[in-house]
Amino acid sequence: MGETAELRVGDKTYELPIIEGTEGERAIDISNLRSESGLITLDPGYGNTGSCESQVAFIDGERGILRYRGYSIEELAEQSTFLEVAYLLMVGRLPTREEMDSFTTSIRYHTMLHEDFKHLFSALPKDAHPMAACSAAVASLAPFYPDSLDPRDPREVEISVHRLIAKMPTLASYAFKHSIGQPFMFPDNRLSYVGNFLHLMFATPCEDYEVDPVIEKAIDLLLILHADHEQNCSTSTVRLVGSSMANLFASVSAGINALWGPRHGGANQDVIEMLKAIESDGLSGREFVERAKSSDDTSRLTGFGHRVYKNFDPRAKIIKKACFDVLDKLGVNSRLLELAVELEEIALKDDYFVERKLYPNVDYYSGVIYNAIGTPANMFTAMFAIGRLPGWIAQWKELHEDPAFKIGRPRQIYTGPNETDYRPMSDR
Ligand code: CMC
Repeated sequence: MGETAELRVGDKTYELPIIEGTEGERAIDISNLRSESGLITLDPGYGNTGSCESQVAFIDGERGILRYRGYSIEELAEQSTFLEVAYLLMVGRLPTREEMDSFTTSIRYHTMLHEDFKHLFSALPKDAHPMAACSAAVASLAPFYPDSLDPRDPREVEISVHRLIAKMPTLASYAFKHSIGQPFMFPDNRLSYVGNFLHLMFATPCEDYEVDPVIEKAIDLLLILHADHEQNCSTSTVRLVGSSMANLFASVSAGINALWGPRHGGANQDVIEMLKAIESDGLSGREFVERAKSSDDTSRLTGFGHRVYKNFDPRAKIIKKACFDVLDKLGVNSRLLELAVELEEIALKDDYFVERKLYPNVDYYSGVIYNAIGTPANMFTAMFAIGRLPGWIAQWKELHEDPAFKIGRPRQIYTGPNETDYRPMSDR
C-alpha cells in the first residue's frame, strides 16, 4: 500500500489511502470510510471534495494555470480554433488534418433543426430569457432524435455529440430571433462554425450579410476560453444528471440551467448590466466598489472572485487584451470598457479585495466584447453555453467510460425534527 492518512475517532484508527494526480495534487480517498466507520464527511459547497478523477482539464488556482488535456490555455488561444479545441477535449488528443476535416464536415451538416422544432421557440413569450429557451430546446432534442440516446453505445453517443455541437448555435440564435421578432435564418454551411453563428444571429432574409473576420476571430477565441473548466457548478451538474443514465441532451440541458445563475455563467450578463447601471446612476467607480464591499448591500463586484483562482484567472488576462484589440480594430470607443478598467484598478488596490484574493474572472471583460459587436446582454450566457458545450460533453463521456461508474448520490447530516406523531388537522 502507498502513503496513507490516519483518522482517529475515539479509540479507533482508520487508515485512508492517499492518491496523487499527475500534477501532484493529493487527496485522501474516503470511498470506504462509511462502510468501515459509519462516518461520512461534511463539505458544504464541496470546496475540499474531489468528485472524480479526470483527465480533461487541469487548473492550478494559485499559479493561474489552466490546461486542456495538457495544453496551456494561452497556447490554444493563440494557435487553435474552437472546433479543434472541442475535438481535443472530447476525443482526448489533437486531431490530424483528416480527422479535423471529417469532424468539421460532420458538424457542418448537422446544423439544421427539424421544422417542427421552430414551434418550441414561438410558444415562448418574446421576453423569455435565451437560457430558458436553450435549456428547453436542448432537452427537446431527445424526442426529435430518439435513435441515438444510449449513453453506453459509442456510435450513438458520437451522433448525439455531433448533433448537439452543430445545432447549439442554431438553437441559441433562434431564441434571440424570436425575442426580436425576426424570422429564423437557415444555417449557411459554407461558413465556419462561428461565421455561421454570426449569420444565424445577425443576418436577415432581406439583405446580404458579411461575416466580419475580426468579430469571427474574437468570438472563436471567447469560445476556446470557455470550453472547459473542470468540475465547476454546471459541469458537476452535467455529470450528476448523466450518472443517472439520463441521455446526453437531458444532462446538458441541466448544465445550461446551472450555468444561468449569476454566481456562475450568468455573471457575464450581470457585469455589463452593472457597468451600465453605474454609468446611468452617475456613480463613481470608488462609490460602487465601496458598495460591493459593504455587508449591508447585496451587490457584489460581479466578474470578480473565483472559487479556484486565488492569484489571477488566466482567461481574464487573455480576454482583457482581446477586448482592447477588438474594440480598437472595430473603431469602437467604449465608455463601459473605461469604466471596467477603472473599477478593476480600484479593486486591485483595495484591501478588501486583496485580502480575499478577488481578481477579475473570465466574465469580467467578455461582455464588453459581446456588447461592442451588438449582442444583447441576455444572449451573453447563451454564448458561454455554446463555448462550454465540448467541456460538458467531454466530462459526460469520461463519466460513462469510467469502469468505476456509479450514480452520484451525496449523503447528508440530518438536522430536522426527531420522530413526531401525526396530529389530525382538527387537533392542530
Ligand atoms: N464582490 C465583493 N465581494 C466578494 C466577491 C465579489 N465579486 N466575491 C467574493 N466576495 C467576498 C464574499 O463576500 C466573502 O466575503 P466574507 O469572507 O467577508 O464573507 C469572500 O469574498 C468569499 O466569497 P465566497 O462567496 O465565500 O467565495 P466563493 O469561492 O464561494 O465564491 C464566487 C466564488 C465566484 C461565487 C464569488 O467570488 C462571486 O460571487 N463573484 C461574483 C460573481 C461572478 O463573477 N461569478 C463568475 C465566476 S467565474 C465564471 C463562472 O464560474 O461561470
